[in-house]
Amino acid sequence: MDHFASPHNLDRKLHSLLGEASSNLCDWFAESGSQGPMPDSFELPEVPPREKGVSNKVLLKELKLLMNGSFRPSHPGALAHLDPPPLSASIVGELICAGLNNNLLAEELSPTLSSLERKLCKWFCQKLGLGDLSGGVAASGGSLSNLMALVMARNIAGLESDPNAVFFASDDCHVSLSKAVRIMGLKRESLIKIPTDENGKLNISCLFSTLKKIKAEGKKCFAVVATAGTTVRGAIDPIYGIAQFCQKENIWLHVDGAIGAIYGLSTITSDLLDGLASADSITVNPQKLLGISKTSSLLLVANKSHLSSTFSTGLPYAEPLKGNDSHCGEIGIQGTRSAESLKLWIGLRQLGEEGIEKILLGSIKRKCYLESRIDKSKFKIISGSLHLLAFTPINYNSSQASDWSIKTRNSLLTSKFMLSRPLYGDRYYLKAVMGNPNTTFDHLKKLANLINHSISD
Ligand SMILES: Cc1ncc(COP(=O)(O)O)c(C=O)c1O
Repeated sequence: MDHFASPHNLDRKLHSLLGEASSNLCDWFAESGSQGPMPDSFELPEVPPREKGVSNKVLLKELKLLMNGSFRPSHPGALAHLDPPPLSASIVGELICAGLNNNLLAEELSPTLSSLERKLCKWFCQKLGLGDLSGGVAASGGSLSNLMALVMARNIAGLESDPNAVFFASDDCHVSLSKAVRIMGLKRESLIKIPTDENGKLNISCLFSTLKKIKAEGKKCFAVVATAGTTVRGAIDPIYGIAQFCQKENIWLHVDGAIGAIYGLSTITSDLLDGLASADSITVNPQKLLGISKTSSLLLVANKSHLSSTFSTGLPYAEPLKGNDSHCGEIGIQGTRSAESLKLWIGLRQLGEEGIEKILLGSIKRKCYLESRIDKSKFKIISGSLHLLAFTPINYNSSQASDWSIKTRNSLLTSKFMLSRPLYGDRYYLKAVMGNPNTTFDHLKKLANLINHSISD
């Protein structure tokens, strides 16, 4: 069977397949700027396998068809979501990861890569200020990291079989918390939403009154989730104050920093996250801004032993580990996992601390620039200190705002700017995320003009 690389000789077929596929990918990048972020239409290749397998030539042709119809994150106008273009080293990391096909379930299936994951998590923990006992685990996305954190928090509180246990998060928390409620077998009302202030931040004073209320009802709270970077406006909850509340009440603090925790890697931006070091657990998603190809998310924990005490099963079909470390598949929900840390490690090595800082600062600069050019007499802008902003016409009711958002999103797409259209509160906004390093101030000037002209004077 010549579809598997030879373990004896240089496999020329694989060599040329990789070469041609890589060259096609480079062409795809090169032509992305002349296309739009989204294709106008697309064609799918034949989907089911034929009776006999097709040649590499056909495979490459079919691949091209898929590529042509794909979203193009490197187009300078791709500003809709938290999906930046990938770092070149990260692309290579993904390819090598697929070739190695190691399994992060257990040490014997990924000796170097398990160790790499541990060390990388520890580096993140140290940068974000978690103490000596800290550690973490990689997960396929922020939703999974948040779920693991909540399962762990409930377990550590000893409330895993209490159907009335609750946790708190702000009105603007991410939908993954609602999914976690369902997966954890909790009642919908177990996620108690705390109102936000006018800046979209969790209102601390409501935490005290809400805790008092649930205690009076005989319920117990196992976690507070502070969001560092809300999905629509990038607001950062007052982590420091929430941490004080959690310490006083002996409640687990999870910081959903899927968007914002990455800013803790630079001393210039880490002040935005005051109190982060007091968290019991933190979700951080390098996929959302640093250009690590999807998926890349870490769950970091102040006391790593809480991960193993929550998830460890003994894994009876793998060789036990010597020493204190657990197999990586024993400290989280996932068993078999790809070596996502490889592309994260290689991407960070390529950037260096200077490169990381440049990305973080560049994203905020572009956000501030766009914000400065949007006409405030026409639009209400909502934005925190991070790299996203959302805006909606000031003088429109919610139905007019909805019509405007659909029309403007479409007309921006014809000008090759892709923004998203979140529903926030009672109305639609358009949202721009400045995670794309290919977007220049000139692009943003043009975008702001189009936005300002979407409403007549
Ligand atoms: C604040 C926040 N938390 C968690 C998530 C979930 O991350 P993922 O989409 O990687 O599961 C998101 C996604 O946008 C988010 O904005």
